Formats: sequence, structure tokens, C-alpha cells
Amino acid sequence: MAQNWTPTSWRQKPISQVPDFPDASVLAATEAQLATYPPLVFAGEARNLKKALANVSEGRGFLLQGGDCAESFAEHGADTIRDFFRAFLQMAVVLTFGAQQPVVKVGRIAGQFAKPRSSNIERQGDTELASYRGDIINGIDFTPESRIPNPERQIMAYRQSAATLNLLRAFAMGGYANLDNVHQWMLGFVKDSPQAERYRKLADRISETMDFMKAIGITPETNPSLRETDFFTSHEALLLGYEQALTRVDSTSGDWYATSGHMIWIGDRTRQPDHAHVEYCRGIKNPIGLKCGPSMTADGLIELIDILNPANEAGRLTLICRFGHDKVAEHLPRLIRAVQREGKKVVWSCDPMHGNTITLNSYKTRPFERILSEVESFFQIHRAEGTHPGGIHIEMTGNDVTECTGGARALSGADLGDRYHTHCDPRLNADQALELAFLLAERMKGGRDEKRMLVNGWA
Ligand code: PEP
Ligand code: CO
Repeated sequence: MAQNWTPTSWRQKPISQVPDFPDASVLAATEAQLATYPPLVFAGEARNLKKALANVSEGRGFLLQGGDCAESFAEHGADTIRDFFRAFLQMAVVLTFGAQQPVVKVGRIAGQFAKPRSSNIERQGDTELASYRGDIINGIDFTPESRIPNPERQIMAYRQSAATLNLLRAFAMGGYANLDNVHQWMLGFVKDSPQAERYRKLADRISETMDFMKAIGITPETNPSLRETDFFTSHEALLLGYEQALTRVDSTSGDWYATSGHMIWIGDRTRQPDHAHVEYCRGIKNPIGLKCGPSMTADGLIELIDILNPANEAGRLTLICRFGHDKVAEHLPRLIRAVQREGKKVVWSCDPMHGNTITLNSYKTRPFERILSEVESFFQIHRAEGTHPGGIHIEMTGNDVTECTGGARALSGADLGDRYHTHCDPRLNADQALELAFLLAERMKGGRDEKRMLVNGWA
């Protein structure tokens, strides 16, 4: 077990991004109540995810992590969850084909409710109110009452997470995730896309592969791995009182696990090595993520890796890099070199969302071209450094929202007002998310051909 660590030791450390709860006794009573509730996930599942991520860290897999920036109580319908899962699985199939490797599927879902904010205050006209911090903390309505942090919301978030997870497990294991279904959805997407010609080539090759497998008797009926899938959940471990209440000892190993989700991550604003969020995460055994923005130094990163993964266990730590399309070339190589020099085992993942946010027509948005460009640079840099570009981390929804500009349908600044529904950051809509998968798969395939040519001496 981590030295001098307990599920409460974070309380002795400085902490940022904490809400000002008006009544400490109501908060304590809520946390005590949560501590009596069943865990949302099992330790064995978190260990399975860690094993899958260990393969990714060794170059034998690809991590797809994505979902809402912030889940909301208002949008908790079966259709929203289904449509997200549908879009996500299609991305996974396309990326599996592109990478020719297993894709580890991790949603930002069933617990992604707490948001760090760059300002404590939100101003509208002449009115200033406390910022919205996610539905687990306060309400999004711009009224003084709604912005008061309310501990009861943690119970709501727990229950919503349980219901969401229940449906996702049913989808993943009950036949909905059948590869034949996912393939048909994907063909529907290609047919309707303005870029149909471009995507059809790859889609046809996936279809041929499936026909071939069918011909030799590998079908969802005969092979469970084609009708079921492993799907994991993740969220930012920001609200530590909630996380602590769901921190439990695994009876088989005696280790502590966060049972609020399979994987949790530390945000870019709360990764100070001697502060509370790092303290909490170092003691739990789940796979964890660490957001790395432009202010991350090479020494700072190695210090954090030593704290969070002292045994250098493969699969334990995923570095989620979020620099911005124009900054990735400046920051990523120095971090890769430090990690290589120190022999640290990590998964390198690219979050092309959080460094590419701009304001257009008073909407926060992200241009699709910049998102794609950051991932492309991430791939190129890893290729040049001889390391494995292990995954992507994106904000997306299965709905037809208008939050990010660009993509095959060329959403413009003027379109943003049509269906701008996010509670926090702008998400890729289902089409944009799938396009990203197709464009990346194309490039992954290109990269492999290039490698083969080099090996065979053709280049
Ligand atoms: C997020 O992932 O929604 C987020 C706030 O990211 P970051 O900590 O990288 O800014
Ligand atoms: Co976000």
C-alpha cells in the first residue's frame, strides 16, 4: 500500500477547485450516506482495464476515451446514452481496423459530473454569480439559488451513474454491441456523409474482412467476442469527498480502489504534486490519467510519475496530453524524451479538445481542423521519437449538436446557435466524431505502409 496514505489523507493537503458548501454538516451527512451505498464498479474490472492499458503502453493496443465534457441531470435519457454508445462503438471499429490492434474502450460517462473552472465567477451583463461547477455541485441556471453548492446533488449523481452504467453494461453484453450491428450503422453513416467517396474505401475493406470472417465461420453467433464488448467508465476525480465515500477495500487483494468508475484522471488545474488530488490518486489502485498541458515541465512530469506510479507498473498511468494544435510540437517531444530517458511505462494519449477552444459569435467552440491537426502532430511526433501514440481522449456526443465548427458538413460560426446544448465545453457531434475516426484510421494505415516500405527497403 502507498506509504502514509489513507482515503482521507488528502484532507490534510492544500486543495484547489473546491466548492464552498454553505453547510459542512449537511455535506458530511451526505458523504456518510454515500459511503454506505454499493460500489459502482468492481476492483476486478479496474484490474482488467489496467491489463488492457498495459498492452497499450507496450505498443499493442489503442485507447479510445470519450464522452461528454460534463454529464447533466437534465439529459439523462436512454436515447442519449444509446446514441453515444452507438457513435463510440463505430469509432472503435474504424480505429481497430486502422490500427490493426485492439481498441480499449473507455467512456467519459457514468460519473463525469464535476468541473474545474478557470474563474470562480461568471458574469452576464452587470450580474456576477458563482461559476457553474457541474451538476454534482450546483445548477447551471444563472440564478443565485441555483449556483449555491448543494451536497444532495452527489446522491443524484451517484444514482444517475448507477443507472447509466446499468444500461451500458446491458448494451455491451446483451447483443446491442454485436459487430454486425456496428458495421451496419457505420455503412449508414458513410452513405449519408458528404465525404462518402473518401470513407467508402476503408468501409468496403472492413465489409470484405467481415465477409471473409463469415465465410470461414467466425460470426457473432459462434464467437462471443463479436457480439459482446468490454466497455469501461471514467471521469475526472475532482470532487474528492464524493470519491472518498466510494473508495473501498478490495477483499481479494486488500488494496484500495476508487469504485466511482473504472479509471479516474487528474485535471490540468489540480495536478500540483503536494496537493490533495495527487494525494488521493496515489493511494488507489485503479488505472489513472494525468492531464498534461503546456505548463507541465519535464522534471515536474517525472516527479508526478514517481508519486503516482512508484512501482513503474504498466497500465497504471495514462498521460493525456492537451497542448493545442499550435503548441504540441513545442511541448510533446520534451516530455516524451524525459519519460524515455527515465524508462517510465506510460500510455501516451492525445486530448485534442482542451487546447483548441476559441470563442466565436460568443460561443465557446473548437474547429474540427485544429482537433484533427493536433492528433496528426501527436502521431507524427511519436513516430519520430520511436514511441507509441497510444490513444485519443475526446469530448463527443451521439447527438446532432452544433458545438464544434468544421467537419464534412462544414459547420460555421453562424450554425453554432442551432443546437448548442453542452453544459460545459463544446463536443464533437456523432458525425464529426466518426469522421475523426475515419481520418485517423486512414493515417494509421498510411503509417503502417510507410513502416513496411522502410523495412522492405522500398523507400
Ligand atoms: C476536461 O477534461 O473536461 C478538462 C477540464 O480538462 P483539463 O483538466 O485538461 O483542462
Ligand atoms: Co472539457
